[in-house]
Amino acid sequence: MTATIERGAATAPIPPKPADKPTRGRPRGFLASSNGKKVVMAVTGAVMVLFLVGHMLGNLKIFISRDSFNDYATALRTLLEPLAPYRTLLTIVEVVLAVSVVLHIWAAISLSRRAHAARPVKYAAKKSQAGGYATHIMRYGGVTIVLFLVWHLLDLTFGVVNPKGPVSTPADRMIAGFDPSRWWMTLIYLVAVVMVGLHLRHGIWSAFQTLGWANRNRYKALRTGAALVSAVLVIGFLAPPLAITFGVVK
Ligand code: HEM
Repeated sequence: MTATIERGAATAPIPPKPADKPTRGRPRGFLASSNGKKVVMAVTGAVMVLFLVGHMLGNLKIFISRDSFNDYATALRTLLEPLAPYRTLLTIVEVVLAVSVVLHIWAAISLSRRAHAARPVKYAAKKSQAGGYATHIMRYGGVTIVLFLVWHLLDLTFGVVNPKGPVSTPADRMIAGFDPSRWWMTLIYLVAVVMVGLHLRHGIWSAFQTLGWANRNRYKALRTGAALVSAVLVIGFLAPPLAITFGVVK
């Protein structure tokens, strides 16, 4: 499928595209090129998807028992002990994630600015629905996910906005956070996780294209694959909060 963009009549001649031209006197590295930035987006995105798969599987332990979930949270902090100090692995994961988030956002902003600069004349007509939808879901969806992440860490990691407070077990925070009386919190998580799913679906698909995998033969399979991975993550992430709010997990 090729995305069609209806362009309106240009009101001025279009100068040559400035992107990726070697700058006089300054050699441009791979990271400065559009391809380099797309690779940064794909690699950091893949790191985050791997984290999300592990995180989702860990969260599902709440269906076994509170203890099972707390044991998993403890293991995240004590793994590698006594060879390495307490929390070594988790700290590595946090640093890799933080670097990935920053690089991902940097590459996204940089690519978007470049695309804007390369389009000297505004379209007189609106873009097609598909192009507009993808841009909106990635840009505003990305901002929503970052805001959600800040709230999520204050809620379930640090406990400062959680009814159980910071001095509690991860299972207690999770079960109190999605208590039936706090159905609205579950609703906020639902919207955020669906946003994550839509962002992933488009992001995974874009990564396949960056890697040059999305040829005609594999097009449908890869699109379905991207949608499937996203759907599994959305369902897996939403299962615990919904089960707690509906009283299945207490
Ligand atoms: C509704 C689904 C989710 C639930 C129930 C959930 C639950 C939790 C819990 C209980 C913790 C604290 C774990 C601990 O202290 O050991 C946590 C941490 C975290 N969550 Fe989630 N999470 C969900 C969705 C997400 C999503 C969609 C993302 C990313 C977009 C995310 C990113 C994180 C991060 C980065 C941490 C901090 C990890 C750390 O350094 O300890 N979570 N989550």
